[in-house]
Amino acid sequence: MFIKFNLYFLLKYLIVLIFLIFTNVYSHDVEKYAFLMPNVIPYRPELYLCTPIRVDTFNSYYIVGFEPNSTMETAHHMLLYGCENPGSEKPVWNCGEMAKNSEMEETYTPCKKSTQIMYAWARDAPMLKLPEGVGFKVGAKSKIKYLVLQVHYANINQFQDGNSDNSGIFLHYTKRPLDKLAGVILLGTGGKIKPLATTHMEAVCTLTENKTIHPFAYRTHTHSLGRVVAGYRVREDENGIDQWTLLGKRDPLTPQMFYPVVDTDPIRKGDKLASRCTMVSARTTITHIGATQEDEMCNFYLMYWVDSGSTLDMKYCFNNQGPPFYWYNLDDRLNRIPDKDASSLD
Ligand code: CU
Ligand code: CU
Repeated sequence: MFIKFNLYFLLKYLIVLIFLIFTNVYSHDVEKYAFLMPNVIPYRPELYLCTPIRVDTFNSYYIVGFEPNSTMETAHHMLLYGCENPGSEKPVWNCGEMAKNSEMEETYTPCKKSTQIMYAWARDAPMLKLPEGVGFKVGAKSKIKYLVLQVHYANINQFQDGNSDNSGIFLHYTKRPLDKLAGVILLGTGGKIKPLATTHMEAVCTLTENKTIHPFAYRTHTHSLGRVVAGYRVREDENGIDQWTLLGKRDPLTPQMFYPVVDTDPIRKGDKLASRCTMVSARTTITHIGATQEDEMCNFYLMYWVDSGSTLDMKYCFNNQGPPFYWYNLDDRLNRIPDKDASSLD
């Protein structure tokens, strides 16, 4: 009787202990880092500000989630970049990609070296959690030594009486090594857009590395002429027929954040990635690809994870010539091109 009683308590104690260890591993494993603007006062409308953090490079960290801290009244968009070197040594700098370079203002790009977009927020988008067990590796044994936060302040009425802002992102991270690393590949083009016409800007690349990637999110980016941006996985079957699988397609004037892909089937060695931007110009002059608002961009970002090992060496899939370069006049020409589907929104 006495022993039984003791055993019961011992058992109960053990169960409580195991439970505590378990919840500890689960909930305290993931920590948060507040990566916020250092109380800045945006001094003009349409301002882009950047602020950096240097990652401790003695340890590897795995970012598993991005929790935004802003509202659409304050910030038009936020972008998080991973870099080897930041664009400036200053704590805050003007990093307007689209700004017309007035001689009064010094502007620097977000990153000086190895730019990678890791997260994008707009329009009160909720938190982005990467799939279970997936993380962006930063710090030791990663090219990402700095993180740079860019905030676009479009309207500055609320700052006119001296209020400051600390918009930013709570980074959810863990030090526990994760096998599934997240990466981003950017498909885009250079080139020109003809006046008073519709132009297709297309890129295509073959996955030549011996890796399988699992796509999970995509983002599109153009300035103002983009009507549709679409991305596909293209796989040639035994009969030489290209099977096109849509990854994501959207009107690039909708908030330019990461959205879940339409199809999460893995992309293997030998598959192609293809993107098209349908640009409609009512301008009477040629529009070039470039950084300002008068220029255009044609970008499709694909976020993915790999089962094991490192992410793709291929970070970009760029067609630098731009049009006239079309999916159908490659040497290794593509077939079954979903011409209509790639340029319409339904
Ligand atoms: Cu913006
Ligand atoms: Cu742009």
